[in-house]
Amino acid sequence: MFKTIEWRKNSVVMIDQRALPTEERYLTYKNYTGVAKAIRDMVVRGAPAIGVAAAMGIALGALKIREKDRRGFKSQFKKICKAMAETRPTAVNLFWAIEKMKKVLSNNPRLSVKELKERLVDEAVTIYSEDIDINVRMGRNGRRFIKNGTSVLTHCNAGALATAGYGTALGVIRAAIEEGKSVKVFVDETRPFLQGSRLTAWELKKDGIDTTLIADNMAGYMMKKGFINCIIVGADRIAANGDVANKIGTYSVAVLAKQHKIPFYVAAPTSTIDLNIKNGDQIPIEERNANEITHIKGIRIAPKNINVKNPAFDVTPNRLVAAIITENGVARGDYQKRLKKFVNGN
Ligand code: MRU
Repeated sequence: MFKTIEWRKNSVVMIDQRALPTEERYLTYKNYTGVAKAIRDMVVRGAPAIGVAAAMGIALGALKIREKDRRGFKSQFKKICKAMAETRPTAVNLFWAIEKMKKVLSNNPRLSVKELKERLVDEAVTIYSEDIDINVRMGRNGRRFIKNGTSVLTHCNAGALATAGYGTALGVIRAAIEEGKSVKVFVDETRPFLQGSRLTAWELKKDGIDTTLIADNMAGYMMKKGFINCIIVGADRIAANGDVANKIGTYSVAVLAKQHKIPFYVAAPTSTIDLNIKNGDQIPIEERNANEITHIKGIRIAPKNINVKNPAFDVTPNRLVAAIITENGVARGDYQKRLKKFVNGN
């Protein structure tokens, strides 16, 4: 089994997701600037995995700080956190993980620099291992929505590759299959970065799960013909009212699902819920390089100098979402109250 990301002897090892599915190669990072670049360049991607990578990157950076006094250490540490925060704007798990790392300093005012470094490494490794556990719990909470014999459509990659392991949306599918249910998965390509065809199809096939690849523009036809009975996706940021930011194209799938009376589910850890954001309009949407649209594997597929828009995410309004599945429970419609409860435990 592959490992998406791993802390190994004061370095971070990641599978290079840009090279999949044709090549399974691993890259080793020894400094935080390398990890920040890996997040920006999509070596690692997917909201929870970005959070884990950021935490590990910060731990790497902290280990290299030379200052022996807390004050000097803190000012270098802040710089590292700032660099990490500037990598990608939409997935809130990134900022959640940075906050967790900052708390190691603020909650331990008496620790020496040496002790702080150890604690920061421990925290990053804990964020990693807890993520796997959270995904397994999410799977158990969500598997009842996937009936025996269901055909599920998923968009982008919300699997083991997007997390520390097991996955969010794919975790729910895996949990249903582990219960003995027969499940067929439709995977759409997810233009322009092709997370569906390159990553989701790869990891599902590796697991021996019944997988069928379709192009993005086939979703409506497949729903109308009755090939799809349920949709499940992950999320990059969920607003307090249950509006969901996820990979561009998610909104179109949700609208189509509504039209065809097919339930549309979102599976995400509570670290993806941003209670500071009232609704989806306030979620920052990353705009990525035009090359992702004009080129495929370095080959130009559009005229030179054509105007391009490349928003990497869209927002699905809460009214199109049948349920939000988290590790702490499932919200169905009553998002405002339930999501707050899941995050704060009250
Ligand atoms: O641009 P990406 O590949 O980082 O976008 C990933 C997604 O949109 C995923 O669906 C989301 O992060 C959920 S992953 C469990």
